[in-house]
Amino acid sequence: MAFIADVLSRVKPSATIAVTQKARDLKAKGRDVISLSVGEPDFDTPDNVKQAAIEAIRRGETKYPPVLGIPPLREAIAAKFKRENGLDYKASDTIVATGGKQILYNAFLVTMNKGDEVIIPAPYWVSYPEMVLINGGEPVIVRTTFANEFKLQAEDLERAITPRTKWVVLNSPSNPSGAAYTREELKALTDVLMRHPHVWVLTDDIYEHLVYGDFVFTTPAQVEPGLYERTLTMNGVSKSYAMTGWRIGYAAGPAQLIKAMDMVQGQQTSGACTIAQWAAVEALNGPQDLVPVRRNAFEERRDLVVSMLNQAQGLKCPSPEGAFYVYPSCAGAIGRKAPSGKKIETDEDFVGELLESEGVAAVQGTAFGLGPNFRVSYATSLGTLEEACHKIQRFTASLR
Ligand SMILES: Cc1ncc(COP(=O)(O)O)c(C=O)c1O
Repeated sequence: MAFIADVLSRVKPSATIAVTQKARDLKAKGRDVISLSVGEPDFDTPDNVKQAAIEAIRRGETKYPPVLGIPPLREAIAAKFKRENGLDYKASDTIVATGGKQILYNAFLVTMNKGDEVIIPAPYWVSYPEMVLINGGEPVIVRTTFANEFKLQAEDLERAITPRTKWVVLNSPSNPSGAAYTREELKALTDVLMRHPHVWVLTDDIYEHLVYGDFVFTTPAQVEPGLYERTLTMNGVSKSYAMTGWRIGYAAGPAQLIKAMDMVQGQQTSGACTIAQWAAVEALNGPQDLVPVRRNAFEERRDLVVSMLNQAQGLKCPSPEGAFYVYPSCAGAIGRKAPSGKKIETDEDFVGELLESEGVAAVQGTAFGLGPNFRVSYATSLGTLEEACHKIQRFTASLR
């Protein structure tokens, strides 16, 4: 009898972490490696946020917090939802956790019965299907297309719904494609959901502030208030405020769901780190002037990367609305031979040979459920991106 639980045999380790580790190992061996695989802003946490944490330590805010979060943070979250999203959540409708990851995980933990289905559009963030599987549910993957800019179509959503469907997961802007739904596109999806009252919406809005040009971010409960009572609106400070290491995520939703999440979190990690919570209060309530500055920097990087990747032979790269990823197709490279002599049969071969030949690390589309593509994170300097894209161009030109 194996010691490790059977459910673990259904779960894969994170491919993004694996690629990042491979790049690190090569670097340690002295190879010159550029990593385009990371999922976090290269910017530092703003000084006012750091200062708020230092003051919290000095004030002695070092005791166990309430499981659902410190009251000032829950007030700040409710105020943020009102100010930025027009959502009428009360502080008592909110929950703070150790990263958005814990919010998502516990939402599945408290709702999945064996065989319950969760609709996940592909390409998807690597953790969604695995979290569903760990908690005994069945991920139902609905593939999107390059032609539809990797956005879930209403008719495909309709077709995927069964009596066992519990959740649909929406993530806009998306990791890995960067695609974001306009209000009209979201409305087409919420119209379908209004016809299926047993289906709940888990919306992961963590990249909300990273949208470009004149794109306007919207979220399902805002577009369709009729969905309030079955939507969990999840967000966090990791990406918007460069606070990935502080581990603060949050959500708002119906009382019965928040109560269940409170109960499991109370038996699990309890409240999130008090110092990080005070830092998050400052991030949400304090000056917001760095947010557009950083967004503009990301937009410039997106434009550079999209333009340079479209000049690489055999690659096609859409220009997405947000996040800090692009998701080019490498279909034109499949069937060709790399400088090592290896034939490229999959997107995994493509990124493997790219790393070997040019020392550029990206993540294969297979990891996100849709290929042949690969994910490029542009959360690094313009100079590094330019060098990396030149290397990608040289690599694709070398394929025979
Ligand atoms: C789509 C998406 N959701 C959620 C998260 C988790 O964010 P955190 O746990 O740092 O709040 C990430 C992080 O990579 C992400 O890309």
